Amino acid sequence: MKTKIIGHRGGVAGYPENTLAAFKKAVELGADGVEFDVQLTKDGEIVVIHDEFIDRTMDGSGLVKDHTFAELRDMSVGEFFSSEFKNQKIPTLREVLEIVKDMEIINIELKNHLSYPNLETKVLKLVDEFKIRDKVIISSFNHYSLEKIKKIQPAIKTGALLMAKIINPADYAFKRGFDALHMHFLTIDQKTIEKAHFMGMKICAYTVNYSESVVDLLEKGVDMIITDNIEMIQKLRKNA
Ligand code: G3P
Ligand code: CA
Repeated sequence: MKTKIIGHRGGVAGYPENTLAAFKKAVELGADGVEFDVQLTKDGEIVVIHDEFIDRTMDGSGLVKDHTFAELRDMSVGEFFSSEFKNQKIPTLREVLEIVKDMEIINIELKNHLSYPNLETKVLKLVDEFKIRDKVIISSFNHYSLEKIKKIQPAIKTGALLMAKIINPADYAFKRGFDALHMHFLTIDQKTIEKAHFMGMKICAYTVNYSESVVDLLEKGVDMIITDNIEMIQKLRKNA
């Protein structure tokens, strides 16, 4: 099966992360899918943003969860990257899904190192409203949260994000009932890919931006590559 190309936080070179501009461009480029991060505002809106703190990408300070949606919406999320994107505002999950709903793969990462009451239920409700259950993969470094997802909605696919190499990752993910391993690309080996496939699971490599690593992962047969540069990987896949 052809390795799928997934745009990391949108994944378009020259575009700011997790913005509507980046997601629109990813669709235009024909990526197989996108990956993005969700959190909750103080008043319970699901927003798409990576850091728990707004300081790096917005002209404010403090935690996402300590700001209301209206407060966050007043700030730019594109200006830190380039003045060309100063009108980009923090997107809601609903707004992002409107743009990417027809893509083959939609990877929603629950950024819930902090406690976000009912984030799982809220995300699943929206996934069902958009009727995209079959194309969504919910990933998280918080594996308890993924177990919660499976409990609420067993049909939804889950990807266990791993930051470092662990012993027998395929056995670990299988025992916890997950559908995929989302692994740092440097920790992926052939044995893990084969074992995961034998157990009916997928392997997703993140975040891959070097051509030598892409070629290696394409040869090894990973199922998905998450990248910041969709076009670069498209070219390499075409020549593989
Ligand atoms: O989902 C893969 C990757 O996005 C996880 O790391 O920190 O970029 O969210 P991070
Ligand atoms: Ca992410």
